[in-house]
Amino acid sequence: MHDVRCGPVSAVSFSDDERAAVYKAIYTRRDVRDQFLPRPVPDDVLLRLLDAAHHAPSVGFMQPWNFIVIRDPDRKAQVHRAFARANDEAKALFAEERQALYASLKLEGILKAPVNLCITCDRTRGGKVILGRTHNPQMDVYSTVCAVQNLWLAARAEGIGVGWVSIYHDRDMRRILGVPDHVEIVAYLCIGYVDELYDAPELQKRGWRNRLPLVDLIFEEGWQGDTAISSDLPHPDRADALPATP
Ligand SMILES: Cc1cc2nc3c(=O)[nH]c(=O)nc-3n(C[C@H](O)[C@H](O)[C@H](O)COP(=O)(O)O)c2cc1C
Repeated sequence: MHDVRCGPVSAVSFSDDERAAVYKAIYTRRDVRDQFLPRPVPDDVLLRLLDAAHHAPSVGFMQPWNFIVIRDPDRKAQVHRAFARANDEAKALFAEERQALYASLKLEGILKAPVNLCITCDRTRGGKVILGRTHNPQMDVYSTVCAVQNLWLAARAEGIGVGWVSIYHDRDMRRILGVPDHVEIVAYLCIGYVDELYDAPELQKRGWRNRLPLVDLIFEEGWQGDTAISSDLPHPDRADALPATP
């Protein structure tokens, strides 16, 4: 693979194929729960994914992330138990008619995915005063989310699925992984090869929730409440389909 990380990079546009590849990764990325193959993820591939994450933008170039790689079945089982406890609590919070549908959803692939990965944000990294974070202290956590998305898209290009699991008590995950208080747990990811992906979010396919029309989300010049506004942008209903090659 050509290494684009060394030396200055020209700012000219991508070639048609390169541009199409970027959009392909974005539009066909999926959250994966159940489709993981047992095939191991080689260390060099995992390292590429982590390096993609490590090249995310960060406030003040703080790079607040760490990557905890989990492969031990016992530890995964502990995490899965924490998930199961929280998932029972979560289910009870939905209206009765939604509970059966909720219970039928697969919401994690902790045991099935060959690799689990916890991405954290060390809020003390670089000292107390961080360029750009002074007035918006949550920016370090947002930076870490950028790292998650970089990894997710790079994984898509590698044929590797990623599933984000957020159904657990923070205190449980801290205990299981030994994460100290000054470090925020941002993402718990299940990672592994897949040979198929849904062509739309699984939650949409299962009737839980649809993608919102993009036009309803775009405001001009300021907040415009919940009013849908007309826009000159092209019709966005193709959000789940691959765009025509640019
Ligand atoms: C912060 C975050 C937390 C999520 N937590 C869960 C989760 O606990 N379980 C789950 O099944 N999916 C989880 N997801 C995945 C979303 O359900 C998924 O991204 C959404 O339905 C859209 O589907 P797509 O990612 O396949 O496009 C999470 C996604 C994000 C961004």
